[in-house]
Amino acid sequence: MNTWVILGAIVALVLMRLRKPSMLTWAAAWWVAMFAIVRYGFTVPVPISVVKLYMGLITAGLVAYVLTDEERIEQVCQPVLAFMTQKRFQLPLLATMLAIPALFAWSIYAGMTRDPQAPAFARTVHPAPPDEITVHDNTVSIGTADNPYRALEETDPEAFGARLANGREVYYANCFYCHGDIMAGEGMYAHALNPIPTSFQDPGTIAMLREAFLFWRIAKGAPGLPEEGGPWASAMPAWESFLTEEEMWNVVLFLYEFTGHRPRAVEEHH
Ligand code: HEC
Repeated sequence: MNTWVILGAIVALVLMRLRKPSMLTWAAAWWVAMFAIVRYGFTVPVPISVVKLYMGLITAGLVAYVLTDEERIEQVCQPVLAFMTQKRFQLPLLATMLAIPALFAWSIYAGMTRDPQAPAFARTVHPAPPDEITVHDNTVSIGTADNPYRALEETDPEAFGARLANGREVYYANCFYCHGDIMAGEGMYAHALNPIPTSFQDPGTIAMLREAFLFWRIAKGAPGLPEEGGPWASAMPAWESFLTEEEMWNVVLFLYEFTGHRPRAVEEHH
């Protein structure tokens, strides 16, 4: 809530009440005050379609209020009639008659001339990784390394399960904001980002990558992307600053487990 706007609108309406305005001024003031509250009274921006809907309802309410009493109808019609018929209003009347079509023309013109869109750049989504990277003083050769804990899936399902549980924790503490609850790239921040966070459900992503590739992307994030991958403005953080190596390998296990994809094997690479 934007307290100042709402307080301001209320104070303005109370002050107006004390001055006993004509029915037309009163209705106009209510309309403006309600518009100010709906449009600017909330810190979260209200979509323009919702504003229009509310203003439609408020307008209908005010019209109904005026129409239910002959005296009120009179009070509203009088100044309007006077404006249209009395000689002293001739010039303002002419100006109004010209302004109305001009406003229409302007709004149509404004609607037709859109801001130019930034051109779409083609970019390499999966650029070639570096041969090796250094993470927490350890050298990992991306070309040949496998997930050091993948073998547990066969040899020690219990230990593997514990790693998956840790990977799940890491994911829901750090990654779901962008990559989403169900890993479809639908996190709450996703719509603000370009490129959008990868949907791991998409068969074109982790299903065709090796685990070491993911490890590289997670550890080094957008800052670690090679030049050729550009122009990039990826928001993917470099997680080596926040996670241990084990946590990063564990979250990789969890990405595959959750989506049901299998990583591309090291052998295929050669
Ligand atoms: C601030 C938003 C954000 C967060 C948080 C985030 N990511 Fe990302 N991530 C992205 C974006 C955007 C991309 C796509 C652009 C790119 O590849 O850099 C991406 C790409 C990736 C990729 C590359 C996928 C591919 O197909 O190449 C992986 C893997 C990944 N993220 C894993 C993670 C993991 C694991 C976490 C949590 C530890 C995480 N991300 C947290 C924004 C985020």
